[in-house]
Amino acid sequence: MIMKHFISLKEIQAKELRKIISDAKIRKRKRKKLNTLDVDKDSPLKGKLLIQMFEKSSTRTRLSFYLAIKQLGGSALTLRPDELHLAKGETLADTAKILSTYGNAFMLRTDSDKKMEEFKKYIRIPIINGLSPSAHPTQVLSDIFTIEEIKKKPISKLNICWIGDGNNNVINSLIAASVKFSFSLNIGCPKKYKPNTRILRWVKMNKKRVNIFVDPKDAAKNVDVIFTDKVISMNDKGNKIKKLKDFKNYQVNSRIMSLAKKNAIFLHCLPRGKEVTDSVFLGSQSKVWQQAINRVYVQKSILLYCFNKLR
Ligand code: CP
Ligand code: NVA
Repeated sequence: MIMKHFISLKEIQAKELRKIISDAKIRKRKRKKLNTLDVDKDSPLKGKLLIQMFEKSSTRTRLSFYLAIKQLGGSALTLRPDELHLAKGETLADTAKILSTYGNAFMLRTDSDKKMEEFKKYIRIPIINGLSPSAHPTQVLSDIFTIEEIKKKPISKLNICWIGDGNNNVINSLIAASVKFSFSLNIGCPKKYKPNTRILRWVKMNKKRVNIFVDPKDAAKNVDVIFTDKVISMNDKGNKIKKLKDFKNYQVNSRIMSLAKKNAIFLHCLPRGKEVTDSVFLGSQSKVWQQAINRVYVQKSILLYCFNKLR
């Protein structure tokens, strides 16, 4: 069986990413009358086991991958790292081989990119990045799907804006997506929190660019979508009080929303903090609940991509 990993959008061809989105669209449409746990008619992953492991908290990724594999006819098992021998000295290499013996795919949320790479080295089944310090690819691919579903046009025709930390996992994946899907991306962030030079170099290498603004108002002007994310990410190690202070002028509020296009939408991967006001988050431009449920559909197609079963 040909298998594919899904670790970073940067490593996946644009046409494969497009195929995942198209497949998700078809599958979502075909499920309109089905219940949450009903299996898709073709049951393409019947008999397959997805093992998922979370080294960090997760609500949405955990639930959406569970539903995704179930709807494809397979099953999921969730592991807690502290219950495994891995935490007590069994090697990662042996653990990876054992996971490959019992399961058919492995979804990992980790606090270390190095660990993701190590698992990739030893595992013999597809591995999916369910969030690492450097990327959150399943989230962002699903967000592209949501934007196109709502806007009814390819994302390459839209202007996307991110306000917040310019150097976290979600924006890294959004930057990667902006290159793969060729959309315009404005980033509004304090000087100290600009995207890291490695990813900017990669953007340049691909002959693309992102627009970085220190004033969030400039970033928001005339855009179709405004994203933000928590100021403090799960893997943040620095001074949190100081960081929150640095972002005090970067809250997405109705003033910021009013600078975007009239029909602009607001997205947030959740969980949220104070980076968005209640009135924006709960307001009519916010599409966060649709954004959250779409993860199920896109992750189904990501799983099919990993099993080389995309039509
Ligand atoms: N957006 C997201 O990944 O949510 P969880 O951390 O709850 O999985
Ligand atoms: N940037 C956030 C995303 C949470 C889904 C974090 O890493 O905590």
